[in-house]
Amino acid sequence: MSRIPYLSVFAVLPLVLLSACSIPNGQPQKGSEPVAPNQVVDFGTLYAQNCAACHGAEGRGGASIALANPVYLAIVDENAVHNVVANGVRETSMPAFAESAGGLLTDEQINVITSGMFSRWGRKGIIDGTNPPSYAAKTTGDATRGEIAFGKYCASCHGSEGHGGSKGSAISNDSFLALVSDQGLRTIVITGRPELGAPDWRGNVPGKAMSDQEVTDVVAWLASRRVQSPGQPYSASNYTEHDHSEHPHSEQMEK
Ligand code: HEC
Ligand code: HEC
Repeated sequence: MSRIPYLSVFAVLPLVLLSACSIPNGQPQKGSEPVAPNQVVDFGTLYAQNCAACHGAEGRGGASIALANPVYLAIVDENAVHNVVANGVRETSMPAFAESAGGLLTDEQINVITSGMFSRWGRKGIIDGTNPPSYAAKTTGDATRGEIAFGKYCASCHGSEGHGGSKGSAISNDSFLALVSDQGLRTIVITGRPELGAPDWRGNVPGKAMSDQEVTDVVAWLASRRVQSPGQPYSASNYTEHDHSEHPHSEQMEK
């Protein structure tokens, strides 16, 4: 007796599903017309299609940093973000998205993404009353001082010399450093990776925030550990890189 209603649910279910699929009978619903890719101006769609693979769904982080990090968004300005999204970060996997740089997004779309990041994920006042290091380095770092700062602020988690420790992975090895820019390192040191439990500039040593200069010096020390040709002993680009950064375009400009 009690089995009959139970079975009847299964008898009716396929019919319900079928009828749900057959309505509205091939007619496009209102608003379902396809939009040309360069006409998409919805933040969620643009972010999901272009950024989520590396920066995580909803900006929560993935292979690369979480963008939904209010401390990050309080320290960086919109122009800097727009510029990175438009032009990418050379020698890292951060792509250039602007049409002018070979990407597929219009300037308007990049504006939607940039301003959307700040309006959705920023939090006003989050670093009020603190004295954060500047987003971009103001001085040249000193690697020797940086090594000392590393011992003080980083080694507890990343191990002495950054070879990896109980709480943090190896960050001074050439294959990691080859894939991250100096600004990328600076950003992580200042803003942390809260999504992975990495502290921001205030939290490495409780009660002792890093100074702007200490951040700059730590990055200089990490950068000094880069080798010329990680995994590619004879790559020509690795030989010329250093000279160019000190005398940008000197040959071309001499004439
Ligand atoms: C293929 C992976 C990949 C994709 C896709 C990607 N990013 Fe990135 N992004 C990176 C990496 C790696 C970095 C760090 C680069 C570095 O070392 O400076 C980065 C850095 C950034 C930064 C700069 C962080 C800083 O240091 O200030 C921003 C902003 C950013 N990405 C935004 C975006 C947005 C917005 C999108 C989508 C339109 C996007 N990214 C798509 C990999 C990616
Ligand atoms: C309280 C522990 C702790 C301290 C102190 C700490 N970190 Fe981290 N750090 C982490 C954790 C956890 C992660 C995320 C997991 C990982 O990649 O190791 C991380 C990630 C990183 C990353 C990104 C690694 C990657 O694979 O993307 C860098 C770079 C980094 N830390 C640099 C530093 C530097 C430089 C210092 C000192 C100024 C420092 N950290 C201090 C815990 C710490």
